[in-house]
Amino acid sequence: MKQLFLAAGISILVAQTKPIPLSSFDAKAKDLLMRMTLDEKIGQMTQADQMFLKDPSDIETYFLGSILSGGDSDPKEGNSREAWTNLATGIEAHANKTRLRIPLLYGIDAVHGHSNVLGAVIFPHNIGLGATRDAALVEQIGKITAEEVRATGIQWVFAPCVTVPQDIRWGRTYEGFSEDPKLVSELGAAAVRGLQGKGLSDPHAVLACAKHYLGDGGTTFGTGGPGKKVLDQGDTRVDEATLRRLHLQGYLTTVPAGVGTIMPSYNSWNGVKVSGSKHLLTEVLKEEIGFQGFLISDYNAVDQITKDYKTAIGVSINAGMDMVMVPDHYREFIHNLKELVQEGAVPMSRIDDAVTRILRVKFAMGLMDSKPRPSPASFAFGTPEHRAVARQAVRESLVLLKNDHQTLPLAKSVARIDVSGKSADDIGNQCGGWTISWQGKSGATTTGGTTILAALRKAGAKVTSEGANVGIVVIGETPYAEGQGDRAELPLSAEDVAAVKKMRSTGIPVVVILISGRPMILDPILDQADAIVAAWLPGTEGDGVTDVLFGAYKPVGKLSFTWPRQFNFGFGLTY
Ligand code: GLC
Repeated sequence: MKQLFLAAGISILVAQTKPIPLSSFDAKAKDLLMRMTLDEKIGQMTQADQMFLKDPSDIETYFLGSILSGGDSDPKEGNSREAWTNLATGIEAHANKTRLRIPLLYGIDAVHGHSNVLGAVIFPHNIGLGATRDAALVEQIGKITAEEVRATGIQWVFAPCVTVPQDIRWGRTYEGFSEDPKLVSELGAAAVRGLQGKGLSDPHAVLACAKHYLGDGGTTFGTGGPGKKVLDQGDTRVDEATLRRLHLQGYLTTVPAGVGTIMPSYNSWNGVKVSGSKHLLTEVLKEEIGFQGFLISDYNAVDQITKDYKTAIGVSINAGMDMVMVPDHYREFIHNLKELVQEGAVPMSRIDDAVTRILRVKFAMGLMDSKPRPSPASFAFGTPEHRAVARQAVRESLVLLKNDHQTLPLAKSVARIDVSGKSADDIGNQCGGWTISWQGKSGATTTGGTTILAALRKAGAKVTSEGANVGIVVIGETPYAEGQGDRAELPLSAEDVAAVKKMRSTGIPVVVILISGRPMILDPILDQADAIVAAWLPGTEGDGVTDVLFGAYKPVGKLSFTWPRQFNFGFGLTY
């Protein structure tokens, strides 16, 4: 009998977690669609950036379906929770003045916590979460991120990134969980479950966006896009079987997990822009895999399809793009798409399919219901409980690469620690890109948080160069995002190597902590350090690093990327 109950329990659990199919909202969507003008339909397919609105009333004039804040598109009053809430709710109010009062979706890159807002908890970037192998933790992080995004009145995040980076010289490597498709597929689905909660109608959930479809992390070195990048937005040159094996896995799990939106990528596949590929957008993703939500283009990605903008729009929409992220020239987009429909170049059936998909999601989110929504102020934001989960994520993300003579863990009681290195006391380096600003920024003022130096002091260590019995040198990368992080080589800087060598010269044991968005070539310091910890981009909760340095927790992280020439995928020591 017990087995029966157990089986029933599990099946109920599975039944509860299976998302409601978006197509179950079609009756409501089609009823509304029938009442819409062509202008209102095309408006729903248009996403502008708040910073480029010619006039906020353009939202009403053009019936805009969505607004985003791209990187650096911040409230004029600054990045406080209140300023973001006022911006989002102010924008929202314009949509309520339209004839049909279809609420708009506000989208933002909350890619490691609500990383645009001061005071938000900033989690490790995905490369660190990949090292945890902890899907339950990733789901919990998604849930907390959703809560903190809702705390600013925003309800759509352009996450999770389910890229599978194959060349760590790519500036977006750290946005990927792993080079391994299976690990990406597991953690990507967990992130969607966390972000979208018990279902899209859950007021504590947000709409997620799996990105960037398809093959964003597989571009060939030297084929980078505009602006002379070497990899970013380049050409992924593989056969379809390889494309599916390496890069499709994250969609094969996030679609069944109910992800409401997917973002097609800038990159090309064998010379064809993915954002204009009917085979990939419609035949594979919508027909074969059965994705029922809507596709949101990347930032001006449609413009890159072909020189003539109107032609590019027609190619992309006919390929299956449903909503276009056109931050500034949204009026031009709308004008061109309307002409294409009137000329018959884009069939009304394609417009109706796109708008049905968008409306399905809005109905599923309960946006069309008149019932009152919790106020942004009622959501938890930057709480100790949220920080505790981020601290756990930092702990579990650390990968111990070397630990000669059991240098680690440090005995806290006798620790007189000489601390050096550019990232020992730099919250900006610790958080990396996509933090408050698009590219992120070195320094102490980027956002509130606990640096590694501050965490050492909080843990009671005596930080001094006088009579120190161990040295800690924190080195690595300064912040970057996207193509700005593309590199031909990944050496440590001369400054970093010198800092390690200087500490080595004191004769005390040396612990190197690497703050970076990817593996770097460690040859110059490998024999200079007694212990080496890969900390990735841990975010605001530096206490997670000292939890492991002092042995309160053992290091459990395993490499989710091969460390060239030095450590294999899955490598990681422990105490
Ligand atoms: C960027 C990125 C994408 C992001 C979007 C909006 O260029 O490619 O990941 O979601 O634009 O900021």
